[in-house]
Amino acid sequence: MRRRSWVVLPCLLLALLIGGVIGITGAEVPVYKDASAPVALRVEDLLSRMTLAEKIGQMTQAERGAIKPEEVQKYYIGSVLSGGGSAPWPNTPQSWVRMYDDYQKAAMSTRLAIPILYGTDAVHGHNNLRGATIFPHNIGLGATRDPELLERIGRITALETRATGANWTFSPCVAVVRDIRWGRTYESFGENPELQRLLVGAYIKGLQGPDGEMGGEYVVATAKHFLGDGGATWGTGDAGFRIDRGNVAVSEEELRAVHLPGYEEAIKAQVGTIMVAFNSYQGLKMHEHKYLITDVLKNELGFSGFVVTDWEGIREIPAPDFYSKVVRAVNAGIDMFMEPNRWREFVVTLEKAVQKGDVSEARIDDAVRRILRVKFQAGLFEAPYADRDLLAQKVIGCDAHRVIAREAVRKSLVLLKNENNLLPLAKESRIYIAGSNADDIGNQCGGWTITWQGKSGPITTGTTIRAGIEAAVKNSGRIVSRLDAADVAVVVVGEKPYAEGAGDNGRLTLDATDLMVLKEIKAAGVPMVVIIVAGRPLMISEYLDDWEALVAAWLPGTEGQGVADVLFGDYNFTGRLPLTWPKNLDRYPLNYGAADYDPLFSYGYGLTMDLGE
Ligand code: BGC
Ligand code: BGC
Repeated sequence: MRRRSWVVLPCLLLALLIGGVIGITGAEVPVYKDASAPVALRVEDLLSRMTLAEKIGQMTQAERGAIKPEEVQKYYIGSVLSGGGSAPWPNTPQSWVRMYDDYQKAAMSTRLAIPILYGTDAVHGHNNLRGATIFPHNIGLGATRDPELLERIGRITALETRATGANWTFSPCVAVVRDIRWGRTYESFGENPELQRLLVGAYIKGLQGPDGEMGGEYVVATAKHFLGDGGATWGTGDAGFRIDRGNVAVSEEELRAVHLPGYEEAIKAQVGTIMVAFNSYQGLKMHEHKYLITDVLKNELGFSGFVVTDWEGIREIPAPDFYSKVVRAVNAGIDMFMEPNRWREFVVTLEKAVQKGDVSEARIDDAVRRILRVKFQAGLFEAPYADRDLLAQKVIGCDAHRVIAREAVRKSLVLLKNENNLLPLAKESRIYIAGSNADDIGNQCGGWTITWQGKSGPITTGTTIRAGIEAAVKNSGRIVSRLDAADVAVVVVGEKPYAEGAGDNGRLTLDATDLMVLKEIKAAGVPMVVIIVAGRPLMISEYLDDWEALVAAWLPGTEGQGVADVLFGDYNFTGRLPLTWPKNLDRYPLNYGAADYDPLFSYGYGLTMDLGE
């Protein structure tokens, strides 16, 4: 059991002092290098040896495309990241390991040999890596309501990430999405904080290990984006977006009731890091929100890991110059700065701010202490380099992992309509398959897959929904290419990939070509199952009568067979809506629970099939 309480610190310091004087901790090996010494002692010992430049280096995170290993060494950089889609070329596990080890060697050759954390957005599997197992995005996991499954997904994600060297993931996103027009809806487990309460802890335990190990086959996790990211008001978006990065206007009572529980769970699960949100709260950018970051998160909730900015997040603080932005953000309580490209400017600016006394050394020490603590807890000083055995074991994208992803797909599906018990389909059926998302791995995976925004087409290895259906019927039924030869049509419609504000959308309509296909099938009189592959509800009220069956499949990832598993009744539906499916978008913000609240399908809705059991 690790002691994290601040109360023990003075005692430890005393022990350190005595230990140093009478030499019980050993004269040659500095305390911080002694793996058997308590973490708090190691942190204080190392901190006491560091120069200001070394401390500021620890607080700096640069993007792999904008920093060379020599620079990591020269500036004592504390962390390197892969931004969305940023990978070494060729994008193979071997190149990742080489890249990671090159950075780590540079860090380990600094005076104090402090290892780096290498961060990447492994948000639904290790999605920057081609060939990795890609799980459903969080919105689908929210529909499963299955913490045990999420813990397994976390473990696998950690293992595949670790097999490439990287030791830190910027996940889970614990956003509580309150407006489905937000482009990050699919990164959320859902609209009701009971889902974050149920799932966040288990997922983090999967990623970091049940006791917060963070080392070996586990990674350091990040709860993001603190605070209120899913609660912004439409029309207040920043950086040119409609809602993304916007203003959260709710009362503090509502902020705490809706958006804080995910962080409480994350802290209980010993999450290593928390990322600050781009949005504002009541007009103040979260990146300068001292009350919420220092008073609430660190002091009131007792978060003892470190706080990291979002991508250039401090640059969105409305201050006259970069110097003031840095001062405000550091003094608000942020510990590490994701300054992907202009990290050098950050280093110079923070140094100046400390010299001028606008940032205290005590604040710097608090930040560095937190960062070092996570690095010690993760065992990085003892095992800084990639574990090549994991590579040799070929865990990335292996069958055993894909089986779990397929299970997750199955459990994420929500049955919304099933007239005349059209489902389950008989495996002997003659099936007409149509729709723009029926046979497209890229569309199935959505954003944050291989590239930041995601992309249509065969972007990585996996099984499309169509291929899954083909495999299910191959011994008995048939896929037909003419409607007049079909018993049933399976039409897979939905969204094309997007990420973040680029996905803000005030209409959420079906694609025009999909609408034509649906019309054509209706005219032919063939009963149809419509499957929606999308990051959120689409506006379908006016077409719903035409469809016998409707399934929400969210963004299932690489294992599309999970859909066929349920369509043909090998498994029943168990998923339930993680958010309200509105009739139209006129009523946002949704007045949850109000008398006139009248959605197409309510939160928690989900049918099962009659399997004659
Ligand atoms: C996103 C974060 C992400 C970070 C690093 C930001 O734009 O908001 O969710 O972790 O980039 O890729
Ligand atoms: C990066 C993402 C990041 C985004 C923020 C992109 O260029 O690849 O990781 O989240 O910028 O705007």
